[in-house]
Amino acid sequence: MTTAKTILEVQNLKKYYSSSKGLFTSLRKTTNFIPAVDDVSFYIKENETMGLVGETGCGKTTIGKTVLKLTPPTAGRILYDGKDITGLSQAGFRPYRKQMQMIFQDLDAALNPKMRIRSILKEALTVHERPSDAQVDRRIAELLEMVNLKKGKLNNFPGELSGGEKRRVGIARSLAVDPRFVVADEPTSALDVSIQAQVVNLLRDLQQRLKLSYLFISHDLRVVELISHKVAVMYLGQIVEMGMAGKIASAPRHPYTAVLWSSLVDKTTGEGKSVVSDLEGQHWGVFDFERPTTGCRFAPRCPVYEVKGRPPFCTNPGTPPELHRVGEAHMVRCHYPLQ
Ligand SMILES: Nc1ncnc2c1ncn2[C@@H]1O[C@H](COP(=O)(O)OP(=O)(O)OP(=O)(O)O)[C@@H](O)[C@H]1O
Ligand code: SF4
Ligand SMILES: [Mg+2]
Repeated sequence: MTTAKTILEVQNLKKYYSSSKGLFTSLRKTTNFIPAVDDVSFYIKENETMGLVGETGCGKTTIGKTVLKLTPPTAGRILYDGKDITGLSQAGFRPYRKQMQMIFQDLDAALNPKMRIRSILKEALTVHERPSDAQVDRRIAELLEMVNLKKGKLNNFPGELSGGEKRRVGIARSLAVDPRFVVADEPTSALDVSIQAQVVNLLRDLQQRLKLSYLFISHDLRVVELISHKVAVMYLGQIVEMGMAGKIASAPRHPYTAVLWSSLVDKTTGEGKSVVSDLEGQHWGVFDFERPTTGCRFAPRCPVYEVKGRPPFCTNPGTPPELHRVGEAHMVRCHYPLQ
């Protein structure tokens, strides 16, 4: 399934955004920080897919963008193919830029509505190189074949395509420069279930054909489980569970992962309740970089915490749960993992 070589390694990654929201904040003249990504570590091997799952605002896109150096980290290290790329300048990063691509979450923002599909793909092909017109035409034909799009669509504008077709254009554009590592950010969102399956199958086929490695981001655990070899579950900026996809699906150990599954079940029966959370909704106050947690972040919503009679161990600032091993390649951030 996987080769031995690690293509991407992320060590203790932090990304804090300053939040200037609120009158109180501006009067106090202090800065509030949102720990969008808070000490996240993982690695992805060649030809492997790691799924990153969690509710809106938990920090998934921020990880993707930081890894691709589209935004600088607050702390931590990013290693690509064994090389520390964290501190590279834009010029120093140029050789890697081609190899590391993103399929963007917001396609309407990412695909220029005034450009025809042919021009969008041509632009991607000519960012790093100056191919001849004949080479461009040949490569565009290849890309269309790869993502299963009809040639006739080249003359269309993005607004004239279906959601699934737009996704395929987004994928083709990311593949234009022949990357080795791709961050696929919510590539199935806002699509019908049958089209979601087509996009997942396409990405899987492309992985085999082009030997790609993926960081696959989604809020939907079912989709993540379909395509990923391993899965990291995020809650409010932290990884709370990480392991092989089958284990995360069949035997989740963190209460949040179990809640994520049950909320999916609710959704399929049409009785879904909102499980949306937002970091900005939390009362972080003035963020303390030295002691950034006040116990378990999931406690206010944790069913196990309630069942156990709200043990202080869970919420004590001195005993925040650490990510620890509970089985082979299986890590959980919880004092009372599910059995
Ligand atoms: N440029 C920014 N400035 C300030 N805060 C930001 C910025 N980008 C993201 N955030 C905040 O960081 C947190 C994480 O955002 P992020 O977009 O990474 O979440 P996400 O998991 O991708 O969510 P979604 O599922 O909605 O795409 C959120 O609270 C968000 O409001
Ligand atoms: S540490 Fe306590 S509050 Fe946090 S997830 Fe585990 S049981 Fe729930
Ligand atoms: Mg996102």
